[in-house]
This record gives sequence, structure tokens and C-alpha cells, in this order.
Amino acid sequence: MLQDKNIIIGVTGGIAAYKTVELVSRLRKSGANVHVIMTQGAQNFVTELTFREISGHPVVTSMWDRVQEFKVEHIALAQLADMVVIAPATANILAKMAIGMADDMLTTTVLATKAPVLVVPAMNSNMYTNPATQQNIGILKDRGMLVLEPASGHLACGTAGIGRMPEAAEIFDYIANYFAEGREQQDREELLAKLKGKKVLVTAAGTREPIDPVRYIGNRSSGKMGYAIAEAAVKCGAKVVLISGPSSLQPPAGAEFIPVESAREMRQHVLEHFPNTDVVIKAAAVADYRVRDVAENKIKKDDEELVLVLDKNPDILKELGQLKKPGQILVGFAAETQNLLQYAKGKLEKKNLDMIVANDVTKPQAGFNTDTNLIKLLGRDGSVEELPLMSKKELAYIIWQRVMKLL
Ligand code: CTP
Repeated sequence: MLQDKNIIIGVTGGIAAYKTVELVSRLRKSGANVHVIMTQGAQNFVTELTFREISGHPVVTSMWDRVQEFKVEHIALAQLADMVVIAPATANILAKMAIGMADDMLTTTVLATKAPVLVVPAMNSNMYTNPATQQNIGILKDRGMLVLEPASGHLACGTAGIGRMPEAAEIFDYIANYFAEGREQQDREELLAKLKGKKVLVTAAGTREPIDPVRYIGNRSSGKMGYAIAEAAVKCGAKVVLISGPSSLQPPAGAEFIPVESAREMRQHVLEHFPNTDVVIKAAAVADYRVRDVAENKIKKDDEELVLVLDKNPDILKELGQLKKPGQILVGFAAETQNLLQYAKGKLEKKNLDMIVANDVTKPQAGFNTDTNLIKLLGRDGSVEELPLMSKKELAYIIWQRVMKLL
């Protein structure tokens, strides 16, 4: 997430400045370009040389530095920044920023930048809780600055209380999360633009094949994955038809919902909607067999043995693969207990799919009736993408993102 991001780190005069050295190191290792600006106070705690070595760039210590790299423009760093982070931020810099001063390179950069500014205050607890400091922090927050609150604990001044700067790892995580969320937002917006107005058909949950009026052959599918896929598409503005076997879930508002029982019922509705559909995602667990002679009345346990003859159900997805027109996208699911990739790849080819979502249902927290899933996405081009354990709701968006690339 931080690859090639330009992060400007402002260091002010506090003992916690030593932790900022580790923060700069972590940011650089994760691919960010890190430029450090030190106030005069900061140079009493850590040397300029340390930050130069760790960041790999010259450190700006004065407005009047002849920093060749930035063509001496005093707002060059402000323009370059994807984020400005002030850690540690003393009570003094908070006050200066609150009134909009620009008397050194750091305050000038903060005033001139359009990038988000993250402030990490660290100081003696009385200074931190002083109404003046709290008011200044409030002003900065109101202006949209991000503030990472200090932790409580032993302070350098010998007292204990609030004011400790969070550890470098925590500040790093905050920055990484910020960019991850931004990226997610951007991805969602792109997806929204692409899915808007598209006609999509999603099947979900397991079908039921009757044995008699009270019994059926079913499977463990809850419908959670399929419903999440339908919901994500509705939220992105697609016209969604959700054809579902029995499920305890609430169908997403805004989708056309068609409840069905058996595989043959599902087939009938799917075939009806298929001709004017752009994308079909078949997340349903369709029963492969149905009972040949469904008993009219409840079967009594008179015999020691009960033999049911099963007939093969039509493979709906395979039929769609044969009917598919150019421009239509077909996505299937493969729930397996062994040879996951091999079986999934076989189904992708046999059913003429564009993508298949493979999941090993023997894995904990994956497969039937869980809120999370562990899946692999196999493309027609032979690509295999392995995704980490994620909620089914999050996975739904990722599946749509990959599908949209195929359109
Ligand atoms: N499927 C279907 N109609 C069927 C059986 C399956 O449309 N009669 C679809 C499912 O919705 C899923 C995909 O095919 O998207 C894979 O289903 P699965 O039952 O795992 O595959 P099968 O081809 O039936 O293979 P097998 O049961 O032998 O594993």
C-alpha cells in the first residue's frame, strides 16, 4: 500500500524522536519515499545524520537550506507529499499550527500542503491535558488533521500519565491503514462506475430435492456467499436478479428475488433470465441428483431398508456455458474436499466458464455456513489468485472487481 508514496516526516523537539527513527525505517522498507524535516529543537535529540542515513534523503533543517534535490523551493516538499506526519509533535508545534504560523520549514510545509496531515502528540501529561493544548488539538482536528492520541505510561520527565508517543509499529500501521482504506474507497468507486446499470444474475444457497411431502435431499449451503455477491452488486448500481434455494437470510433490498426449491425450478428461472444478462455468478450448491419417484404421501418406516433411485439433474451452469454469447460472463463455484485446483480447473473448462471461485470446504472458517471464506480465483487464461481469509462480504467486492476486468 505504501509503495512509492511520498511521506514527509516532521520531527519536533521531544525525547520520543528516537522512535521516529524506527518509523522512518519501517516506512522506507515498505517502499515509501521518506523525506524528513527536523525543527531546531529536534536536532537536540537525534542528529540530522541519523535521519539522512535511515531515510536515504537529505534532511531539511532550515528554511534556508540549499537542498538541491528540491530545487530550493520552500514548498516543494508540501507539493510532493502524499501525507505529512508530525511525530513527535510538541505542545509548541501544535500551538503554532493552530494559529497558522509559518516560521520554519515544518510549519511552512504544513501550511502549504494539500496532503493529509497526521499529528502524533508526545509530551508531559500536564502539558498534554492543559486546556490550551487540548484546544489547539481540537482546532487541528476541526480543520481535518488526523491525530493519533498519545498513550499512557511512564514519561521521560519521571512522572506517569498520558503523553507517551505510540510505538513506531503503531504509527506505521495507522499510516498503512489510512492508505489501504483510501485504496479500497477508490476501488469501490471504480467498481461502482463499471457495474452501474449492468444486468447480473446470481444464484445462491442449496437446492432441495423432495423425497416425500416432508423430506428432501439437501446440502449445507447457507447462501451467505451468494447473498453477499448479490448485495455488493446492488450497492454498485447493478440490476440484480437473485435466484435462491431456501435460506434463512434476508434477500438484499433492491434485488429482484426469486425463491426456488429444486434444481429444475432453478434451471427454469435461470434460463428465462439468461438471454438479457451481462454476468452470471452461480454460487448456488445445486443438487446433482433428484429422487426418481417422489412419494405422494409421507413414507412410513415399514421396511428395514429404503432404496431411493436418483436421476441426474441437469447441470445448469454447463448449459449456460453452451448458450453463452460473446460479451456474457459466466462465473462458477467449485466447493471441494480434495484436489481443489485440479477439480476447479476441470469444471472451468468443461462448463466453458470465464472464472471459477474455488474453495476447500474442509478448511476451518471457510465454506458452508461461515461468515468468512478462503478462496482461489481461477481465470480462463490459466491465472490462479489465492486470497487470504476474508469475510464473505469483502470477498464479494473482490470477486466483482475481478469479474469487471473480464468484461
Ligand atoms: N452447478 C449447476 N448445476 C448443477 C450442478 C452444479 O449449475 N446441476 C453449478 C454450481 O452452481 C457451481 C458449479 O456448477 O457454480 C459447480 O458445482 P459442483 O456441484 O461443485 O460441480 P459439479 O460439476 O456438479 O461436479 P461434482 O459434483 O462432481 O464435484
